[in-house]
Amino acid sequence: MTSTLAAAEPLIDDFSVFEELESNVRTYCRKFPAVFHRAKGAELYTEDARVFIDFFCGAGTLNFGHNNDFIKRRLTDYLDDDGLMHGLDMYTQAKREFLTAFADTVLRPRGLSYKVQFCGPTGTDAVEAALKLARKATGRTGLFAFTGAYHGMSRGSLAVTGSRSARRAGGISGQDVTFLPYEDGPQGTFDSISLMERLLADPSSGVDVPAAVIVEPLQMEGGVYPASPDWLRRLRAITERYGILLILDEIQAGCGRTGRFFCFEHAGIVPDLVTVSKAIGGYGLPMSLVLFRHGLDVWQPGEHTGTFRGNQLAFVAATAACDLWRQEGFQTGLATAANRLAQFGRDLAAEHPAIAVRGKGMALGIDLAAAGGGERAEQVQRYAFNNGVVVELCGRHDEVIKILPPLTIDLARLDRGLSVLRDALLRADLAGTR
Ligand SMILES: Cc1ncc(COP(=O)(O)O)c(C=O)c1O
Repeated sequence: MTSTLAAAEPLIDDFSVFEELESNVRTYCRKFPAVFHRAKGAELYTEDARVFIDFFCGAGTLNFGHNNDFIKRRLTDYLDDDGLMHGLDMYTQAKREFLTAFADTVLRPRGLSYKVQFCGPTGTDAVEAALKLARKATGRTGLFAFTGAYHGMSRGSLAVTGSRSARRAGGISGQDVTFLPYEDGPQGTFDSISLMERLLADPSSGVDVPAAVIVEPLQMEGGVYPASPDWLRRLRAITERYGILLILDEIQAGCGRTGRFFCFEHAGIVPDLVTVSKAIGGYGLPMSLVLFRHGLDVWQPGEHTGTFRGNQLAFVAATAACDLWRQEGFQTGLATAANRLAQFGRDLAAEHPAIAVRGKGMALGIDLAAAGGGERAEQVQRYAFNNGVVVELCGRHDEVIKILPPLTIDLARLDRGLSVLRDALLRADLAGTR
């Protein structure tokens, strides 16, 4: 007997299933209230046929845009061939090809001789692994971290993350971490390297020499604050002098976001450990790595393990992404788009002196702290969404608009998205638009 009752079609823009079943912890869906179903390049499409320019890119994950054709072909070939999907940390062809491509494209051309550790699928597990390894290798437990830092939501990562509310939600106490001011922040610049020197040199400072310093070369969540090359070089020098390991967290700023593959390259330093995730998976596929000097590989087999460290599709996509990185024209396209973004920032700052603009490469922060603060930034975000642009906020009070377009965005779409933002930023009549 056939039923006359057809399955109920969800209504367009009907959020009721999510609201009823999904935890209150959900967040981005509240800022971008739509049901997305397709995406291509720099655009997102909703089930009610709206089109958005994506200046958020999965929080810096989709550096090659959505459904990049070059990467997609490799993935569909692999799927058509019944390629292995899940491999724990067994040897597989897909992993071999990724390691070879990563060494040839990223490590060797930069003179970097790192071991690669595959971690659980998200960035925070790479941070956990890096902190554990630093503690094991040095036999010390202390860590230095910086105000404004964001390193993830698991307990070890939260312990080196600045945000009080995130730490409170994680029930985090000190965990042997000393926070020092980052080079720049809402309170202005600070000579934290001299403070560090003072703490380390004084046997009565109350602070032990730590196992490691963990630092983002460009703080994204903290409010788009790039560290200067000079500050990073001084940090490298002092950590070397005291035998402290230097961990660079490149999870959001890495993989080409700032114009170089690693953001730390701008400073010409070589960290002891590097955490990489987000865009390394090429296609938005989860992947998470720690890179470290060979001498630091003091792990015993299985000391940091996990079921999802062998995402074969991510290996395939990441290998294709390495090939894309080497393709002629890719880096000149990236440089051209980055120049356009920087010019937008300069013009905006000149036009509106209360707006502070910071960034590097394809990451731009528009700081409204002195131009209406978080409330104003939220209005701008909403106006942008209503006019077809997805853009996220960051900073201590969500007062900074964080623009992260795909590295591959065409200039026409980049300009279109920026002009919506410019409109939103310069309009005086946005108050009360939420
Ligand atoms: C610098 C940095 N480190 C670590 C993480 C944590 O990564 P995940 O959210 O994949 O755990 C993030 C995420 O935004 C990040 O920006």
